[in-house]
Amino acid sequence: MKSLFARKSQKPILERCRKDQSSLMRQKYAPWYHSMDAQRKTRVEMNGRDMVMLTSNDYVGLTFHPKVIEAGKMALDKWGSSTTGARPANGSRRYHIELEEALASFLNKEACQVSSAGYISCATGIASFAQRGDVILADKSLHSSLWDGIRLSHASMERFSHNSAKSLRSELELLDPKVAKLLAIEGVFSMEGHISPLPELLDVSDEFGCFVVMDDAHGLGVLGKDGRGTASHFDVEDRVDILVGSLSKSLSSTGGFVAGDRESIEYLRTHSKQTIFSAALCPSQAACAKMALQIMQEEPEHRERLWANTKRYKNMLLDLKLDTWGSETPAVPVVLGSKERAYVFWKSLLEKGVFTVMSIAPGVPPGKDLIRTAISASHTAEDFEIIAEAFAYAVKKL
Ligand SMILES: Cc1ncc(COP(=O)(O)O)c(C=O)c1O
Repeated sequence: MKSLFARKSQKPILERCRKDQSSLMRQKYAPWYHSMDAQRKTRVEMNGRDMVMLTSNDYVGLTFHPKVIEAGKMALDKWGSSTTGARPANGSRRYHIELEEALASFLNKEACQVSSAGYISCATGIASFAQRGDVILADKSLHSSLWDGIRLSHASMERFSHNSAKSLRSELELLDPKVAKLLAIEGVFSMEGHISPLPELLDVSDEFGCFVVMDDAHGLGVLGKDGRGTASHFDVEDRVDILVGSLSKSLSSTGGFVAGDRESIEYLRTHSKQTIFSAALCPSQAACAKMALQIMQEEPEHRERLWANTKRYKNMLLDLKLDTWGSETPAVPVVLGSKERAYVFWKSLLEKGVFTVMSIAPGVPPGKDLIRTAISASHTAEDFEIIAEAFAYAVKKL
């Protein structure tokens, strides 16, 4: 019988895993996959230390809202922990329909389909509608879930410059006018914090007959009336065909959604492999998201605090002359320009009790290595004192 080593060495994929430089470096410097031992709102405990969380997507700060927690508990009691099945089979429940109706109405759309992850909804929001022979026009800075959706669709793809209606037009002018086209964009770009110039992009896309799919994972809860998102912010809700997004940010849950007109969502229910063959959103997560949606409309003070906190934080970064890549939202990158500088900065913040996340090329364009930070309505004056001290220290350390 061959030894275990001999058997392993004959497997090129195992060999690749063992020697992968990125994995070896990640484990050596350990900037990611930190496990937290406890959490209360913006405070987390790591290795026995109390830290300020400065990179969560809990923009509206509802993850510890008593009504959200109560709703989750009640759903667990009523429906159990999981449906253990997919929506077209045994997995559909009344709470899915209720959440879908609430989301559709909030987003000014006729219909909605929820799934167990934003990643699934965003990918399927493209993959289900575009097909071989179509062309997808994609902003260069899209989220990974949308790139995967593009690949799964088998359509061909043309990239255009980030947030550039001019570049979009140049690409469209080269295409066969008869071919079906899909425009894939984001409302708020999660890494850069940029808001899409939506009216300009829509003017161009309407001219060329593009079906528009917009991921508003980071616009929902943050922009627009009551947090209805980027399309509401620009008053163009009826011009975006499909809105995709996540329940894991302002809606303080886990899961995703696709919203649009009734025919498109029925088409999605028929053709979306990613949701047809995946278990449905679980009861507690659906209930938390639905309650968060209600609170967002009933308690505007959270969003007001979010923007006041964002202003305060950005002023602090400005005083320190840090580069925030022109962020216009509570998602705020601090661009440091090289992975070495980003690492030093990230580590210094950690030393001073502030948890952020580092993002380096190729995850960001070369020279844009950064730490990603995000502001929540839950950040307190005391948090900001710790943050200010930590940033001043990190700047010195550079
Ligand atoms: C822009 C964008 N789209 C989609 C997703 C996926 O959402 P989820 O984390 O709910 O799977 C994310 C989350 O990172 C995101 O930032």
